[in-house]
Amino acid sequence: MTAIPAPTDPRPAARPLAPSHADAAVPATYAYAYSAEEHDVWATLYGRRMATLAETASAAVLTGIERVGLRPDRVPDLREVNARLARRTGWSAVPVGGFLPARPFFASLAQRRFPTTTTVRPRAQLDYLPEPDVFHDVFGHVPLHADPVFAACLQRFGVLGLLAESEAQVEQVARLFWFTVEFGLVRERGATRVYGSGLVSSHAEAANALGPACERRPFALDAVLAQPYVIDRLQDVLFELSSFEQLWDAVRTMEARLGAP
Ligand SMILES: [Fe+2]
Repeated sequence: MTAIPAPTDPRPAARPLAPSHADAAVPATYAYAYSAEEHDVWATLYGRRMATLAETASAAVLTGIERVGLRPDRVPDLREVNARLARRTGWSAVPVGGFLPARPFFASLAQRRFPTTTTVRPRAQLDYLPEPDVFHDVFGHVPLHADPVFAACLQRFGVLGLLAESEAQVEQVARLFWFTVEFGLVRERGATRVYGSGLVSSHAEAANALGPACERRPFALDAVLAQPYVIDRLQDVLFELSSFEQLWDAVRTMEARLGAP
């Protein structure tokens, strides 16, 4: 494994890129006033997920939820979350209003700034929402940003996204992001644990990922890069890291392949 650096803000030469996550169509604010109903939707989702995550999640997710100060009963105030993250890894969660184009999304990751949706899903769509909401982005993603190794990996994803030039390179970065940051599994405590945000934030996705309908393969960079993914149904193939250090090695290898100086 190569050395994992302390928080920095490398800004490589930027290029257009493909996968998009969240977009800034609507002005967003740190001071959004959530309604009682929105806090209640958060509380319902939080309770459902925490009921099983203690047994199924990576330790980095569980300790991260404590470290960033998520509460069971309220949509978090990102300013409070960011104050905790700043001390640990230098990451922050930055409010955006919707889907961000790929280049600004990855440029933001390269600066340890995570574009974060602030809307709360309606109760009628408690179990499935096609686009990210605050539960996916903050409960699903942000706790891992308190883990130094994962935090370093995610920053390098920003670099990868900016380095990718050809359509094939863009697709490779998208696949690596999908099968790790969004839907990653890791071997811990003698069993398969979830860490990807799509699994941490969704009971149905996590149950599928750990159940008989999903084929879990050992993580190998070239196997991941060769594996197409689907976004509109439950995953039938996922990859299991041996540790987050393995992810670090993978992103550094990708950087070298994409011609990082
Ligand atoms: Fe996500």
